[in-house]
Order: sequence, then structure tokens, then C-alpha cells
Amino acid sequence: MDKNAKTLEDIFILNDKDLLLADFLTLPEGKDVELDLGCGKGGFAVALAQSHPERIILAADVMLGRLRKVRKKLNRAQAGNAYLLRVEARHLLGRILPDRSLARIHILCPDPWPKLRHRGHRLLCADFMMSINRVLREEGIFHFSTDDPEYRDAVVRQVMDSELFAPAPASVLDDVRDFKTEFERDWLAQGKTVTHFAWRALKNPFHGAH
Ligand SMILES: C[S@@+](CC[C@H](N)C(=O)[O-])C[C@H]1O[C@@H](n2cnc3c(N)ncnc32)[C@H](O)[C@@H]1O
Repeated sequence: MDKNAKTLEDIFILNDKDLLLADFLTLPEGKDVELDLGCGKGGFAVALAQSHPERIILAADVMLGRLRKVRKKLNRAQAGNAYLLRVEARHLLGRILPDRSLARIHILCPDPWPKLRHRGHRLLCADFMMSINRVLREEGIFHFSTDDPEYRDAVVRQVMDSELFAPAPASVLDDVRDFKTEFERDWLAQGKTVTHFAWRALKNPFHGAH
């Protein structure tokens, strides 16, 4: 563990430190690594870690209080294959994670910021598509869900316009179909519909170009 990355109850506090993943975490070779980005209270990440002990699950969020709750759930579940990262999403995907390191990335019920003047706060925007593609291995899966029809349409457009992804068969989400995040449970309880999408990462023609 690098001395620059502090842990708090086994949460890596990365903030804006100029670290690469290998500086603070050695992942076992040959295992699939999945990321729950904006994991919130962690219902999804914990269920995934429990059901797939052979995989490595990274759960990331900016809110430390939420990550502490995830830590407790993981301890109770005795799931030792998940790592918690307190980090801003763009920093994680733009810098910390190596190229082509993830088998799947889950971005579930991110804040839709419905008001026009707040749209700039949205996590998923055209610029972010390149970062998602960079960290996914070729044919790796980008899994997205939302209850917000306008955000849904905007993200679908950005994904397709990027030409970095293609629709994946629904079966790539079969193993997680029953795992609901806390937000999805809330939306479903309110009678809303939550739509899930899966795309596979195409080889990025710009990757490695100078
Ligand atoms: C609407 S909640 C959804 C949480 C969880 N995925 C769920 O469905 O229950 C969005 C989460 O993303 C986190 N978040 C928002 N912007 C972020 C960013 N730029 N980097 C990392 N996490 C972020 C928030 O702290 C929050 O926990």
C-alpha cells in the first residue's frame, strides 16, 4: 500500500491524489474486475461480490458516509473480494484505472439532474464515453440504468454517437438482473420504471494513437 493513499476502515481515500491503481492495490491476475461507479449504499456491489467470489468488485463513490455503510455490509456478508474507493468518477476513469482493465462497469441510477441549468453536473456526458471505453477491455460491458426518460434518451444518443460501443445481448446482464440498487428499489416502490441498458466496448480507433 502506497503511503500516499490513506485507508479508513478499509476504504481507499483517493480524492485527487495522483495515483495509479497499481500504486495502492495489487489485483490478482486472471480475475474479472467489475466496477460499480457511484455505488451509493452498495446494495448492488455487495450482492455482486457475494454471488461472484471469483471476481474482483470495485465500488466507488464520492460520499464517504455511503461507503462506510457499504463496508459494513461487505463485512457482514464476509465478502473479501470487493474494494471501496472514495474518488471522483472522472479522476478514477481518466487517470487511476489502467487501460482495458475492467470486464464490466455498472453506472446505475446516476443523478439525472433534470433541470436544464444543472445538466452540466451529469456524470454521463459525451466526454465521458471515451473514458468508459478506455477502462473497459474490448467487448467489456457498460451497464447503465435510469428511471429518467430524458436522461435515458440523452445517454443512448451519446453512446451511439461516440461509435465506441455497440448494443450487447440482454443475456450479459442475466447474472445481475435480480440485484437492485437502493435507488432502483425506491423508484420501483413508487411505481416508476427503471430501464437497463448494456453495451459492449468496441476497439477504440484512437486508443494508442499519437
Ligand atoms: C443517485 S445516487 C445512486 C446510487 C446507487 N447507484 C443506487 O442506484 O442506489 C448517485 C451516487 O453517485 C455518487 N456520485 C455522484 N457524482 C459522482 C462523481 N462525480 N464521482 C463519484 N461518485 C459520484 C453519489 O454520491 C451517489 O452516491
